[in-house]
Amino acid sequence: MKQNKYDDPAFFGKYAQMARSVEGLNAAGEWPAFQAMLPPLAGKRVLDLGCGYGWHCFYAQSQGAAAVTGVDISAKMLARAQQVPGADRIGWQQVAMEDYHPEPEGYDVVLSSLAFHYVADWPSLCRKVAQALKPGGTFLFSVEHPIFTAQGPQAWYCDGEGKPLHWPVDHYFSSGRRETCFLGERVIKYHRTLTDWLAPLLALQLQVNGLREPQPSAQLLADVPGMQDELRRPMMLIVSACKPA
Ligand SMILES: C[S@@+](CC[C@H](N)C(=O)[O-])C[C@H]1O[C@@H](n2cnc3c(N)ncnc32)[C@H](O)[C@@H]1O
Repeated sequence: MKQNKYDDPAFFGKYAQMARSVEGLNAAGEWPAFQAMLPPLAGKRVLDLGCGYGWHCFYAQSQGAAAVTGVDISAKMLARAQQVPGADRIGWQQVAMEDYHPEPEGYDVVLSSLAFHYVADWPSLCRKVAQALKPGGTFLFSVEHPIFTAQGPQAWYCDGEGKPLHWPVDHYFSSGRRETCFLGERVIKYHRTLTDWLAPLLALQLQVNGLREPQPSAQLLADVPGMQDELRRPMMLIVSACKPA
């Protein structure tokens, strides 16, 4: 069964307090890298899988996208997205992305931010995306980095005073389900090796043309307590690929 953690009231309440939930993309450490990898969006048809509050949908809209569709499993996340001015010009779909059937060759850009590590069957989803893309279209996504997801609990190994000593990496080559602790809640995610993230794209003849392991900006490093620790291990991976024209 697909997990819909973001509709859990306790989890949703905590997620709503995160800086990226309150301030949007400017508080998302990976956004400058992700933004730089986006193609021009003016006049494009854009699909966002796991859109959450819809920050990337609204960005696409602000760039002049011709049509924007945001898909998410969570009613609460979409309800929040729909409160934003301009939301009525975006097509919101409350459905698991695994069960969504996009129009074949209907999109110039398929993007996803930090949602694919909730999906069990990655190769099937890649096939769906490849079918949804127009020839020449772009697939851009961020996920939690394999070094971040490998061990499971997603926590620093700390000394007796709570000071982070190191980030544990274990069971790296055992791709699959992990029980993580996110915002103090039990959340199921899926760990994949770097090869497992990329191999389905390559098998589908999608041309991988960008890869980033984003680091926080100098501003975030200066402003946010504890942010320096984000330089000790990667948290996110961003991949872009293109469907041959
Ligand atoms: C970390 S949030 C990211 C939201 C948004 N993309 C962003 O970057 O602000 C992950 C989102 O993925 C959604 N999600 C998780 N599993 C999903 C699935 N199987 N199908 C569709 N959405 C899913 C969650 O409901 C949540 O809104």
